[in-house]
Amino acid sequence: MSVLLTGGAGFIGSHTAVAMIEAGYDVIIADDLSNSSLKVIDRIEAITGTRPAFYRIDVADRAALEPVFQSNRIEGVIHFAGFKSVPESTRIPLKYYRNNLDTALTVLEVMEDYDCSAFVFSSSATVYGETNEAPFVETMPTGSATNPYGTTKLMIEQIVMDACKANEKLSAVLLRYFNPIGAHPSGLIGEAPNGIPNNLMPYITQVAVGQRDHLSVYGDDYPTPDGTGVRDYIHVVDLAEGHVKAMDYALRHTGAEPINLGTGQGSSVLDVVTAFEEASGIPIKREIVARRPGDIAVCYADASKAKRLLNWEAKYDLRDMCAHSWNWQKNNPKGYDD
Ligand code: UD1
Repeated sequence: MSVLLTGGAGFIGSHTAVAMIEAGYDVIIADDLSNSSLKVIDRIEAITGTRPAFYRIDVADRAALEPVFQSNRIEGVIHFAGFKSVPESTRIPLKYYRNNLDTALTVLEVMEDYDCSAFVFSSSATVYGETNEAPFVETMPTGSATNPYGTTKLMIEQIVMDACKANEKLSAVLLRYFNPIGAHPSGLIGEAPNGIPNNLMPYITQVAVGQRDHLSVYGDDYPTPDGTGVRDYIHVVDLAEGHVKAMDYALRHTGAEPINLGTGQGSSVLDVVTAFEEASGIPIKREIVARRPGDIAVCYADASKAKRLLNWEAKYDLRDMCAHSWNWQKNNPKGYDD
């Protein structure tokens, strides 16, 4: 059965491609490589022994996307394609609204035209906003993201829910990711951010590899056990497995289901730094600085719905996540660049 992964050459998309191939799906990747590399396709082949079909297209371009549906009998779509930098979204909001909404709308329209009715969306725990309190449960009200990137996730969730109401054949799973880190244990694929990383783990691994001097810890005066921010870090391979289960589910049901993908466990910034130091044997120089605007104190999932509906739960612990992130970074100090 053929499944299209838009943005399938990215960090989460590439790990999901591996998991989908291993689960027996025929994987087709559409990616414009604006924030990823063609080498990812070779690496997916090296891991799985199967080369996914690859189209270098912008999925917001209907004329480029339609031939992909014409040439393949696509039964489901996992939609990752979109911009993902929080600070950039605050600086250039129109770029984020235009791109993230256009890609989602075009994919949904073309799916309808080609009678493809299973949709899995790459959403984010950011939709829970600043007013809910952890653990975040899917039944909580959403609606107050702190930045335009997060607002695009909220808007697309709404679009998908409305589309499912209007089209009774359509089935969607809205996967609300917590904080994906780690890398494939082979060290062949991993996170390769452009420029200075915004997120914690790639920053730590770049300090470890000597590309950055030290980690800035954004605030130690939060109401948490050690004062630093608490997040629900999840291994990207577990997250990828969640997509396989979500697609299996979407192919058998109709309607829209928001589902958290997290471990249900919170770890502080300093917990992550310590776990990384233990896993890598490398001390991480750090400095406490002011809080980062828009950050919340504590964010972790109630992970019970994924267990109930998808029979999915995370298997890797924080130590594995750190070991695998480090394995990827030390084998690929410049990511996919030579
Ligand atoms: C961020 C985004 C979220 C997005 C997710 C994608 C914000 C406010 N949220 O989540 O919308 O879905 O990335 O992965 O940007 N930290 C440091 N020093 C650093 C970097 C981070 O101390 O150099 C701290 C942060 O304050 C936070 C934790 O580490 O407590 C995790 O930060 P990060 O990896 O950026 O993820 P989120 O902010 O949770």
